[in-house]
Amino acid sequence: MAACGCGGIQPDDPRFRELDAFIDAHRHVRGSLIGVLHRAQELFGFLPEEVQQHVAQRLGIPPSQVYGVVTFYNYFNLRPTGRYTIRVCMGTACYVRGADKVLQAIQSELKIQPGEMTSDGLFSLEVCRCIGCCGLAPAIMVGEEVFGNMTDAKVPEVLARFRQQAQGGEPEPAVAAGKEGAR
Ligand code: FES
Repeated sequence: MAACGCGGIQPDDPRFRELDAFIDAHRHVRGSLIGVLHRAQELFGFLPEEVQQHVAQRLGIPPSQVYGVVTFYNYFNLRPTGRYTIRVCMGTACYVRGADKVLQAIQSELKIQPGEMTSDGLFSLEVCRCIGCCGLAPAIMVGEEVFGNMTDAKVPEVLARFRQQAQGGEPEPAVAAGKEGAR
């Protein structure tokens, strides 16, 4: 990511036209900013500075208001994300059952820190609060899948499963069976 916070998106990027059509159709809807930001993230994958400024200008609101919403909700990404976003729950139940060791193992395996993406664009890493399955603590999410009762030792096989999936392969049976507590 560029240090300036921009995403290298050109002003004539055709996705802005698509976004403008959405904004024009929803600008009079109460609370439209969040919906517009959802659409913008669908189109661009994340919400860099130039996209936030474009939204602010089209909606006629201060950029600070857009930035405030983007940074308030975990859902919105300021940086590009990998194909699979790994969310490590650091809520109380997970933390006391060793979530920090799981996080360390993921960081070590992927060589990235929370908020970063692997150089191959496959994974990005985030920490989060409770993901709603404390009975399976410690738990992580990879994409939309939940993996419960995680240990640092299980990290390599979980990551291997998604690497394999990205290459178009089927998950190995042993790994798939090792996925505990997926919703
Ligand atoms: S604290 Fe981790 S799932 Fe609730």
